[in-house]
Amino acid sequence: MTLPIWLRSALLAPAIFLASSPQTLRSAADSAGVLIGTAARPYLFSEAAYTETLAREFNMIEPEDAMKWLALRPTAATFDFHDADAVVHFAQAHDMKIRGHCLVWDHNNPDWLAHGHFTSAKLSQLLQEHITTVVKHYSGQVFAWDVVNEGLDENGRLRDSRWFNQPGIGLAGKGPAYIEHAFRWARAADPHALLFYNEAEAEEVNRKSDALFAMLKDFKLHGVPIDGVGLQMHLTLPGLDIASVTANMARLASLGLQVHLTELDVSLPVDANGASSSKEDLLRQTEIYRNVVRACLKTPGCSAIQTWGFTDKYSWIGSHSHGARGAALPFDRSYQPKPAYGAILQELSVKQRQD
Ligand code: XIL
Repeated sequence: MTLPIWLRSALLAPAIFLASSPQTLRSAADSAGVLIGTAARPYLFSEAAYTETLAREFNMIEPEDAMKWLALRPTAATFDFHDADAVVHFAQAHDMKIRGHCLVWDHNNPDWLAHGHFTSAKLSQLLQEHITTVVKHYSGQVFAWDVVNEGLDENGRLRDSRWFNQPGIGLAGKGPAYIEHAFRWARAADPHALLFYNEAEAEEVNRKSDALFAMLKDFKLHGVPIDGVGLQMHLTLPGLDIASVTANMARLASLGLQVHLTELDVSLPVDANGASSSKEDLLRQTEIYRNVVRACLKTPGCSAIQTWGFTDKYSWIGSHSHGARGAALPFDRSYQPKPAYGAILQELSVKQRQD
Protein backbone atom coordinates (compact mmCIF):
# COMPACT_ATOMS: atom_id res chain seq x y z
CA MET A 1 0.00 0.00 0.00
CA THR A 2 1.33 3.44 -0.88
CA LEU A 3 0.78 6.05 1.80
CA PRO A 4 -0.31 9.55 0.83
CA ILE A 5 2.60 11.93 0.80
CA TRP A 6 1.32 14.03 3.73
CA LEU A 7 1.12 10.89 5.92
CA ARG A 8 4.56 9.75 4.86
CA SER A 9 6.13 13.06 5.82
CA ALA A 10 4.20 13.13 9.10
CA LEU A 11 5.54 9.67 9.96
CA LEU A 12 9.07 10.61 8.95
CA ALA A 13 9.10 13.84 10.94
CA PRO A 14 10.18 12.35 14.28
CA ALA A 15 13.00 10.45 12.57
CA ILE A 16 14.22 13.58 10.86
CA PHE A 17 14.03 15.43 14.14
CA LEU A 18 16.01 12.70 15.91
CA ALA A 19 18.62 12.57 13.20
CA SER A 20 19.25 16.28 13.43
CA SER A 21 19.30 16.52 17.24
CA PRO A 22 22.87 16.44 18.55
CA GLN A 23 23.91 12.92 19.48
CA THR A 24 26.39 12.32 22.25
CA LEU A 25 28.12 9.11 23.23
CA ARG A 26 25.83 9.08 26.22
CA SER A 27 22.56 9.47 24.34
CA ALA A 28 23.61 6.89 21.76
CA ALA A 29 24.71 4.45 24.48
CA ASP A 30 21.47 4.97 26.40
CA SER A 31 19.48 4.10 23.29
CA ALA A 32 21.71 1.12 22.55
CA GLY A 33 21.32 -0.14 26.13
CA VAL A 34 25.02 -0.17 26.90
CA LEU A 35 27.12 1.67 29.45
CA ILE A 36 29.68 4.16 28.23
CA GLY A 37 32.04 5.17 31.01
CA THR A 38 35.27 6.91 31.77
CA ALA A 39 37.82 7.20 34.53
CA ALA A 40 37.69 10.53 36.34
CA ARG A 41 39.84 12.57 38.73
CA PRO A 42 37.94 14.65 41.29
CA TYR A 43 40.58 17.41 41.51
CA LEU A 44 39.64 18.35 37.93
CA PHE A 45 36.00 19.01 38.78
CA SER A 46 36.85 22.71 39.07
CA GLU A 47 37.50 22.82 35.30
CA ALA A 48 34.23 23.59 33.51
CA ALA A 49 35.17 21.95 30.19
CA TYR A 50 36.12 18.81 32.08
CA THR A 51 32.86 18.44 33.98
CA GLU A 52 30.67 19.51 31.04
CA THR A 53 32.23 16.94 28.75
CA LEU A 54 32.13 14.24 31.42
CA ALA A 55 28.44 14.68 32.21
CA ARG A 56 27.39 15.18 28.60
CA GLU A 57 29.17 12.20 27.06
CA PHE A 58 29.14 9.42 29.66
CA ASN A 59 26.55 7.50 31.66
CA MET A 60 29.11 5.79 33.89
CA ILE A 61 32.11 6.98 35.87
CA GLU A 62 34.97 5.25 37.67
CA PRO A 63 37.38 7.02 39.99
CA GLU A 64 40.76 6.73 38.25
CA ASP A 65 42.63 6.63 41.58
CA ALA A 66 40.32 7.87 44.33
CA MET A 67 39.08 4.44 45.41
CA LYS A 68 42.51 2.83 45.59
CA TRP A 69 44.19 2.06 48.91
CA LEU A 70 46.62 4.92 48.28
CA ALA A 71 43.75 7.41 48.37
CA LEU A 72 41.46 5.73 50.91
CA ARG A 73 43.97 4.60 53.54
CA PRO A 74 46.24 7.37 54.86
CA THR A 75 47.07 5.10 57.81
CA ALA A 76 46.32 1.53 58.78
CA ALA A 77 43.78 2.76 61.27
CA THR A 78 41.95 5.34 59.16
CA PHE A 79 39.85 5.75 56.03
CA ASP A 80 39.57 8.95 54.03
CA PHE A 81 36.60 8.91 51.66
CA HIS A 82 36.78 12.58 50.73
CA ASP A 83 37.97 12.31 47.11
CA ALA A 84 36.07 9.13 46.34
CA ASP A 85 32.87 10.65 47.73
CA ALA A 86 33.37 13.66 45.44
CA VAL A 87 33.28 11.35 42.42
CA VAL A 88 30.21 9.56 43.74
CA HIS A 89 28.40 12.85 44.35
CA PHE A 90 29.25 14.06 40.86
CA ALA A 91 27.90 10.84 39.38
CA GLN A 92 24.71 11.03 41.39
CA ALA A 93 24.13 14.67 40.48
CA HIS A 94 24.39 13.68 36.80
CA ASP A 95 22.55 10.39 36.95
CA MET A 96 25.59 8.27 36.11
CA LYS A 97 26.44 4.74 37.22
CA ILE A 98 29.50 4.32 39.45
CA ARG A 99 32.10 1.58 38.96
CA GLY A 100 34.43 1.01 41.90
CA HIS A 101 38.16 0.35 41.35
CA CYS A 102 39.87 -1.50 43.00
CA LEU A 103 39.86 -3.42 46.28
CA VAL A 104 42.85 -5.74 45.87
CA TRP A 105 45.93 -4.74 43.87
CA ASP A 106 49.65 -4.85 44.48
CA HIS A 107 50.12 -1.30 43.15
CA ASN A 108 48.99 2.16 44.14
CA ASN A 109 49.16 1.25 47.80
CA PRO A 110 50.21 3.62 50.60
CA ASP A 111 53.82 3.48 51.84
CA TRP A 112 52.82 2.10 55.21
CA LEU A 113 51.38 -0.93 53.40
CA ALA A 114 53.91 -1.20 50.58
CA HIS A 115 56.92 -0.98 52.86
CA GLY A 116 55.45 -2.34 56.06
CA HIS A 117 56.24 -5.78 57.38
CA PHE A 118 53.04 -7.55 58.25
CA THR A 119 52.30 -11.10 59.20
CA SER A 120 49.89 -13.04 57.02
CA ALA A 121 47.32 -12.95 59.80
CA LYS A 122 47.58 -9.15 59.99
CA LEU A 123 47.38 -8.76 56.20
CA SER A 124 44.31 -10.96 56.10
CA GLN A 125 42.66 -8.89 58.80
CA LEU A 126 43.59 -5.63 57.05
CA LEU A 127 42.24 -6.83 53.71
CA GLN A 128 38.97 -8.14 55.08
CA GLU A 129 38.46 -4.93 57.02
CA HIS A 130 39.29 -2.82 53.97
CA ILE A 131 36.95 -4.65 51.63
CA THR A 132 34.14 -4.72 54.18
CA THR A 133 34.40 -1.05 55.13
CA VAL A 134 34.78 0.32 51.61
CA VAL A 135 32.11 -1.85 49.99
CA LYS A 136 29.66 -1.11 52.80
CA HIS A 137 30.42 2.63 52.59
CA TYR A 138 29.36 2.60 48.93
CA SER A 139 26.62 0.02 49.23
CA GLY A 140 23.72 0.96 46.96
CA GLN A 141 25.94 3.51 45.19
CA VAL A 142 28.72 1.58 43.50
CA PHE A 143 26.92 -0.86 41.22
CA ALA A 144 30.03 -2.86 40.23
CA TRP A 145 33.43 -3.37 41.84
CA ASP A 146 36.77 -4.41 40.46
CA VAL A 147 37.46 -6.68 43.41
CA VAL A 148 40.84 -7.98 42.30
CA ASN A 149 43.06 -6.24 39.76
CA GLU A 150 45.88 -7.84 37.75
CA GLY A 151 46.27 -11.09 39.69
CA LEU A 152 47.99 -12.91 36.81
CA ASP A 153 51.41 -12.43 35.24
CA GLU A 154 52.11 -12.43 31.49
CA ASN A 155 52.35 -16.23 31.45
CA GLY A 156 49.02 -16.63 33.20
CA ARG A 157 50.52 -17.67 36.51
CA LEU A 158 49.36 -16.07 39.74
CA ARG A 159 51.43 -12.94 40.13
CA ASP A 160 53.68 -12.75 43.20
CA SER A 161 52.24 -10.13 45.51
CA ARG A 162 51.77 -9.16 49.11
CA TRP A 163 48.23 -10.48 49.00
CA PHE A 164 49.08 -13.80 47.36
CA ASN A 165 52.44 -15.00 48.64
CA GLN A 166 54.71 -12.18 49.86
CA PRO A 167 53.82 -13.17 52.51
CA GLY A 168 50.16 -13.38 51.46
CA ILE A 169 47.02 -13.47 53.56
CA GLY A 170 47.68 -17.03 54.68
CA LEU A 171 46.70 -18.81 51.47
CA ALA A 172 50.00 -18.90 49.57
CA GLY A 173 50.37 -22.22 47.80
CA LYS A 174 46.61 -22.59 47.53
CA GLY A 175 46.21 -21.29 44.00
CA PRO A 176 43.76 -18.43 43.64
CA ALA A 177 42.22 -18.98 47.09
CA TYR A 178 43.15 -15.44 48.16
CA ILE A 179 41.17 -14.09 45.21
CA GLU A 180 38.16 -16.20 46.13
CA HIS A 181 38.30 -14.89 49.70
CA ALA A 182 38.30 -11.32 48.45
CA PHE A 183 35.18 -11.99 46.37
CA ARG A 184 33.39 -13.63 49.30
CA TRP A 185 34.21 -10.72 51.59
CA ALA A 186 32.94 -8.26 48.98
CA ARG A 187 29.70 -10.22 48.46
CA ALA A 188 29.08 -10.33 52.20
CA ALA A 189 29.56 -6.56 52.43
CA ASP A 190 27.10 -5.75 49.63
CA PRO A 191 25.07 -8.63 48.20
CA HIS A 192 23.73 -6.40 45.41
CA ALA A 193 26.94 -5.06 43.92
CA LEU A 194 28.28 -6.79 40.82
CA LEU A 195 31.73 -8.21 41.44
CA PHE A 196 34.40 -8.15 38.72
CA TYR A 197 37.86 -9.55 38.23
CA ASN A 198 39.89 -7.01 36.19
CA GLU A 199 42.91 -7.96 34.09
CA ALA A 200 45.47 -6.42 31.73
CA GLU A 201 46.74 -7.84 28.45
CA ALA A 202 44.16 -10.61 28.40
CA GLU A 203 42.15 -9.17 25.52
CA GLU A 204 43.13 -11.62 22.80
CA VAL A 205 43.20 -15.38 23.06
CA ASN A 206 46.68 -15.91 24.49
CA ARG A 207 48.45 -17.71 27.32
CA LYS A 208 47.26 -15.19 29.86
CA SER A 209 43.63 -15.11 28.77
CA ASP A 210 43.61 -18.92 28.59
CA ALA A 211 44.62 -18.97 32.26
CA LEU A 212 42.10 -16.25 33.06
CA PHE A 213 39.33 -18.22 31.39
CA ALA A 214 40.31 -21.41 33.24
CA MET A 215 40.41 -19.59 36.59
CA LEU A 216 37.05 -17.91 36.11
CA LYS A 217 35.47 -21.14 34.87
CA ASP A 218 36.66 -22.82 38.03
CA PHE A 219 35.27 -19.94 40.13
CA LYS A 220 31.86 -20.37 38.51
CA LEU A 221 31.94 -24.15 39.06
CA HIS A 222 32.75 -23.72 42.73
CA GLY A 223 30.28 -20.97 43.49
CA VAL A 224 32.72 -18.11 43.96
CA PRO A 225 30.51 -14.99 43.87
CA ILE A 226 31.72 -13.35 40.67
CA ASP A 227 29.56 -11.53 38.13
CA GLY A 228 31.94 -10.23 35.55
CA VAL A 229 35.34 -9.79 34.05
CA GLY A 230 37.01 -6.52 33.13
CA LEU A 231 39.37 -6.38 30.17
CA GLN A 232 41.54 -3.29 30.55
CA MET A 233 42.34 -2.58 26.89
CA HIS A 234 45.34 -0.29 27.17
CA LEU A 235 46.23 -0.50 23.50
CA THR A 236 48.98 0.75 21.20
CA LEU A 237 49.49 0.59 17.44
CA PRO A 238 48.97 -1.60 15.51
CA GLY A 239 46.10 -2.68 17.77
CA LEU A 240 44.70 -6.12 18.35
CA ASP A 241 43.62 -9.11 16.35
CA ILE A 242 39.95 -8.28 16.64
CA ALA A 243 38.70 -11.75 15.70
CA SER A 244 40.74 -13.11 18.58
CA VAL A 245 39.37 -10.46 20.95
CA THR A 246 35.83 -11.30 19.86
CA ALA A 247 36.40 -15.01 20.46
CA ASN A 248 37.89 -14.30 23.88
CA MET A 249 34.99 -12.08 24.93
CA ALA A 250 32.55 -14.71 23.73
CA ARG A 251 34.15 -17.51 25.75
CA LEU A 252 34.23 -15.34 28.89
CA ALA A 253 30.58 -14.38 28.39
CA SER A 254 29.70 -18.05 27.87
CA LEU A 255 30.61 -18.61 31.52
CA GLY A 256 27.65 -16.41 32.43
CA LEU A 257 29.92 -13.46 33.18
CA GLN A 258 29.37 -9.89 32.08
CA VAL A 259 32.27 -8.43 30.17
CA HIS A 260 33.26 -4.80 30.74
CA LEU A 261 35.96 -3.05 28.74
CA THR A 262 37.35 -1.14 31.66
CA GLU A 263 40.36 1.02 30.71
CA LEU A 264 40.29 1.54 26.98
CA ASP A 265 42.86 3.87 25.47
CA VAL A 266 44.93 3.71 22.30
CA SER A 267 48.23 5.51 22.72
CA LEU A 268 50.29 6.92 19.86
CA PRO A 269 53.88 8.07 19.54
CA VAL A 270 53.89 11.80 20.36
CA ASP A 271 56.14 14.83 20.00
CA ALA A 272 57.53 16.88 22.89
CA ASN A 273 54.18 18.69 23.27
CA GLY A 274 52.33 15.44 23.70
CA ALA A 275 50.68 15.78 20.29
CA SER A 276 50.53 13.13 17.63
CA SER A 277 52.10 14.55 14.50
CA SER A 278 50.83 11.86 12.19
CA LYS A 279 47.39 11.95 10.59
CA GLU A 280 47.85 8.34 9.64
CA ASP A 281 48.30 7.33 13.28
CA LEU A 282 45.10 9.14 14.21
CA LEU A 283 43.24 7.20 11.55
CA ARG A 284 44.71 3.91 12.71
CA GLN A 285 43.68 4.84 16.23
CA THR A 286 40.18 5.58 15.01
CA GLU A 287 39.86 2.15 13.44
CA ILE A 288 41.10 0.45 16.61
CA TYR A 289 38.48 2.24 18.68
CA ARG A 290 35.84 1.40 16.09
CA ASN A 291 36.71 -2.30 16.00
CA VAL A 292 36.90 -2.69 19.76
CA VAL A 293 33.57 -0.94 20.33
CA ARG A 294 31.97 -2.96 17.54
CA ALA A 295 33.31 -6.23 18.99
CA CYS A 296 31.81 -5.43 22.37
CA LEU A 297 28.46 -4.37 20.94
CA LYS A 298 28.09 -7.58 19.02
CA THR A 299 29.01 -9.80 21.99
CA PRO A 300 25.97 -10.61 24.12
CA GLY A 301 27.22 -10.07 27.67
CA CYS A 302 29.57 -7.22 26.85
CA SER A 303 27.67 -4.52 28.68
CA ALA A 304 30.06 -1.63 29.28
CA ILE A 305 32.74 0.27 27.42
CA GLN A 306 34.90 2.57 29.47
CA THR A 307 37.80 4.78 28.41
CA TRP A 308 40.67 5.54 30.79
CA GLY A 309 40.03 9.26 30.94
CA PHE A 310 38.54 11.14 28.00
CA THR A 311 40.72 14.13 27.15
CA ASP A 312 44.34 13.94 25.97
CA LYS A 313 44.94 16.82 28.38
CA TYR A 314 44.75 14.38 31.28
CA SER A 315 45.81 10.84 30.58
CA TRP A 316 48.00 8.49 32.56
CA ILE A 317 49.84 7.48 29.36
CA GLY A 318 52.15 10.52 29.32
CA SER A 319 53.82 9.83 32.67
CA HIS A 320 53.52 6.06 32.25
CA SER A 321 55.49 6.17 28.97
CA HIS A 322 57.86 8.96 30.11
CA GLY A 323 56.46 11.24 27.43
CA ALA A 324 56.99 8.86 24.52
CA ARG A 325 53.32 8.12 23.91
CA GLY A 326 50.04 9.94 24.37
CA ALA A 327 47.09 11.32 22.41
CA ALA A 328 45.29 8.14 23.47
CA LEU A 329 41.76 9.34 24.15
CA PRO A 330 38.68 10.37 22.14
CA PHE A 331 38.94 14.11 22.96
CA ASP A 332 41.99 16.25 22.25
CA ARG A 333 43.67 18.55 24.75
CA SER A 334 41.09 21.27 24.05
CA TYR A 335 38.16 18.91 24.55
CA GLN A 336 37.47 18.74 20.82
CA PRO A 337 36.25 15.34 19.61
CA LYS A 338 38.83 13.42 17.59
CA PRO A 339 38.06 11.04 14.72
CA ALA A 340 38.02 8.21 17.29
CA TYR A 341 35.07 9.92 18.97
CA GLY A 342 33.15 9.87 15.70
CA ALA A 343 33.86 6.17 15.25
CA ILE A 344 32.61 5.28 18.75
CA LEU A 345 29.50 7.38 18.23
CA GLN A 346 28.83 5.79 14.87
CA GLU A 347 29.14 2.27 16.24
CA LEU A 348 26.82 3.04 19.16
CA SER A 349 24.30 4.57 16.76
CA VAL A 350 24.40 1.56 14.44
CA LYS A 351 23.72 -0.72 17.39
CA GLN A 352 20.78 1.46 18.36
CA ARG A 353 19.30 1.18 14.86
CA GLN A 354 19.72 -2.60 14.83
CA ASP A 355 17.90 -3.16 18.15
C1 XIL B 1 46.72 4.41 36.80
C2 XIL B 1 46.17 5.82 36.88
O1 XIL B 1 45.64 6.17 35.63
C3 XIL B 1 47.25 6.79 37.29
O2 XIL B 1 46.68 8.06 37.55
C4 XIL B 1 47.99 6.29 38.51
O3 XIL B 1 49.08 7.12 38.79
C5 XIL B 1 48.48 4.88 38.33
O4 XIL B 1 47.39 4.04 37.98
N1 XIL B 1 45.79 -0.40 35.30
C6 XIL B 1 44.86 -0.06 36.27
C7 XIL B 1 44.69 1.35 36.67
O5 XIL B 1 44.09 -0.92 36.71
O6 XIL B 1 44.33 1.51 38.01
C8 XIL B 1 45.93 2.17 36.37
O7 XIL B 1 45.62 3.52 36.61
C9 XIL B 1 46.40 1.94 34.95
C10 XIL B 1 46.75 0.50 34.72
